[in-house]
Amino acid sequence: SQQLEREQPLRGKRCLITAGPTHESIDPVRFIGNHSTGKMGMALAQDLANRGATVTLIMGPSAVQNQHELIRRIDVVSAQEMYDAVHMYVSSQDYAIFSAAVADYKPVNTANQKIKKQSDTLTIELVKNPDILASVGALKERPFLVGFALETENELEFAFAKAKKKNTDLLILNSMRDEGAGFGTDTNKITIIDKSGNAEAFPVKSKQMVAKDIIDEIIKRTS
Ligand code: CTP
Ligand code: CA
Repeated sequence: SQQLEREQPLRGKRCLITAGPTHESIDPVRFIGNHSTGKMGMALAQDLANRGATVTLIMGPSAVQNQHELIRRIDVVSAQEMYDAVHMYVSSQDYAIFSAAVADYKPVNTANQKIKKQSDTLTIELVKNPDILASVGALKERPFLVGFALETENELEFAFAKAKKKNTDLLILNSMRDEGAGFGTDTNKITIIDKSGNAEAFPVKSKQMVAKDIIDEIIKRTS
């Protein structure tokens, strides 16, 4: 019916989301990680599901609970696992939103046993992880692609360069500068940047309201 159409404009659409941190093992008891909670990704998943979309949420280690039956959650640990899961599901998607805080580097070697305390300094050699977003941006057939960016300086300039490099349709710049923005908080302050470099800045809002702004923008751009 028309009412259903209005309330669930994304019925039949599929969206893939990456969320949370990744953990890169150093040894059986230690890892390299970051403070991402996965809350922003779950808020996006929930908003999409509320509008009728079928969501595949590829989630790094996170305590956040699944909140909708239309959200299929795939739990992963490392960046490589997240990469593999994304490429398993990406081909059938209408939209893909990359909100995960992927570890840029992982240890070259993971020790089989707990590393014992020895000398006063310890060096762990790291190697770059694959860039999951860029790998999807480079696909010939790909979903409408939304990335995130976190910058601490030259925000707009760096973010636009990222958008170009990764071939995103929209890039969500997460501002660290303002009170109530960034990791661990329940709020975010974003600027949405498109392919032409147009930038629209939003005020500090709850992650739920930020998710709504992002999905509204995606719908506007794809309908
Ligand atoms: N991303 C990804 N795979 C990676 C690194 C980042 O998919 N290995 C994605 C993030 O999920 C985000 C976007 O790329 O959507 C930008 O992440 P960000 O950390 O801001 O950019 P980087 O390209 O990693 O560059 P840098 O950290 O050096 O600023
Ligand atoms: Ca990074």
